Amino acid sequence: MKKATKLTATKEKLGKLPTIEIVEKKKVIFVGSEAAPFIATGGLADVLGSLPKAIASNGNYDVSVILPMYSNIKNEYREKFEFITNFNVSVGWRSQYAGIFTTEYQGVKFFFIDNEYYFKREGNIYGFYDDGERFAFFSRAVLDTVARLNIYPDVMHFNDWQSAGSVIYLKGMYYGDENFKKVKSIFTIHNIEYQGTFPMETFTDLFGFQENLRGVVEFNGALNLMKGAIELSDIVSTVSPTYAEEIKHSFYAHGLENIIKRNEGKLRGILNGIDEDYYNPKTDKFLFANYSYRGLKGKAICKKELQKLVNLPVREDVPIIALITRLVSHKGLDLVKCVIEELLHKDVQVVILGKGERGYEEFFTDLAKKYSGKCATIIAFNQDLSRKIYSGADLFLMPSKSEPCGLSQMIASRYGTVPIVRETGGLNDSIKQFNGVNGNGFTFHNYNAHDMLHSICEGVELYKDKEKWKQLQKIVMTTDFSWKVQSKKYEDLYNN
Ligand code: GLC
Repeated sequence: MKKATKLTATKEKLGKLPTIEIVEKKKVIFVGSEAAPFIATGGLADVLGSLPKAIASNGNYDVSVILPMYSNIKNEYREKFEFITNFNVSVGWRSQYAGIFTTEYQGVKFFFIDNEYYFKREGNIYGFYDDGERFAFFSRAVLDTVARLNIYPDVMHFNDWQSAGSVIYLKGMYYGDENFKKVKSIFTIHNIEYQGTFPMETFTDLFGFQENLRGVVEFNGALNLMKGAIELSDIVSTVSPTYAEEIKHSFYAHGLENIIKRNEGKLRGILNGIDEDYYNPKTDKFLFANYSYRGLKGKAICKKELQKLVNLPVREDVPIIALITRLVSHKGLDLVKCVIEELLHKDVQVVILGKGERGYEEFFTDLAKKYSGKCATIIAFNQDLSRKIYSGADLFLMPSKSEPCGLSQMIASRYGTVPIVRETGGLNDSIKQFNGVNGNGFTFHNYNAHDMLHSICEGVELYKDKEKWKQLQKIVMTTDFSWKVQSKKYEDLYNN
């Protein structure tokens, strides 16, 4: 009897249970010209190597990334690529081969667009006479890939000028394909300085844009891909809230301030994060010794070994100030040039690692000769050495004239090296002046060499106070620069 009652009760309950719906995950496809670890020449690669992974691990989106298949991608990765299909892509009047390869990496699906004529090049991945044609091909092949593979997503997230053409094709031309009609687009500006401008003659000849798009992509008599993408994308984002404000002004916008202002209703600024597993002093294999904020003995070893490596006197009591940067003017190097000798007359050591404009390379090389034993310069772009410097130095200088986000200040912080930054772009959003209690670095506002020097000296002074220094180092090392919070902000954008 009893049993029967029980059974009925259970049945009743079951009847009231809601039916379980299997909800398919939403889909986002990132598009860009580089992503770590496959191919990396700058900050964009860090972001496309870490943000998609963070979104995928949040669990709400299926995440893919589409990249060009450069011959410079290392064999250890290429070997794992799987060929899926090939087809022809229109590049103006040309019809060009595109092979599609795929691989899965850290929860993200990567697609690579192969064409040796465009992407089998020596040395660099950009800077060729036919970059316009190479990325016209890529931009168009991206959409053809989506259509051919039938992987229409909810959102496509494009990055910088190399994929700006895709936004223009998507919004301006691909609505013949109903499936593209529902696809929302985000265009992220990582640096407004590089806009992808080409002679207007390429409009039909290379890009094959339809006539009605002429006004959209034309700017100052040239074809400007970034401008076209800003005009047509559903959302425009950039890599820090401060930079989103700055690019409304001519000092930062490289001519596009009015285009930005006109589109400010759809402009967002989201600070980048870094991959905290990849940049982790506890596990980093490039370091001379590992450490964490709980025990900094390893950092002392890193400093000593770095001094030996770059031929500086092994001294624990002198602060090492590091600069790891592309040697180009917007990084604020003219400020450094102006006061570095004044700085080198103090009891400090300076280590410079970078590559770039000839003039800066020569200046810093000569400087190291003149101040040998106090200053070391290495002209290179070298991952291994950069980690050894991030970990071995005490202060990290980043006086950029403009800095959309900047990742080096975050990486340096992770390694317990205190940043000194100018209050611009993402530097302003990530580093706050230390006031004895709060703050995670040293900052200055005006683009002025002596203001910078003053901040450096503050750091050098504080270094002498071991207790205070330790306190600051702990704040710096425990500041959250991960994608945890920031990736959710992108998801919110996608959801809306
Ligand atoms: C560009 C910007 C840099 C930013 C990076 C990633 O390289 O110059 O500030 O951190 O893109 O968004």
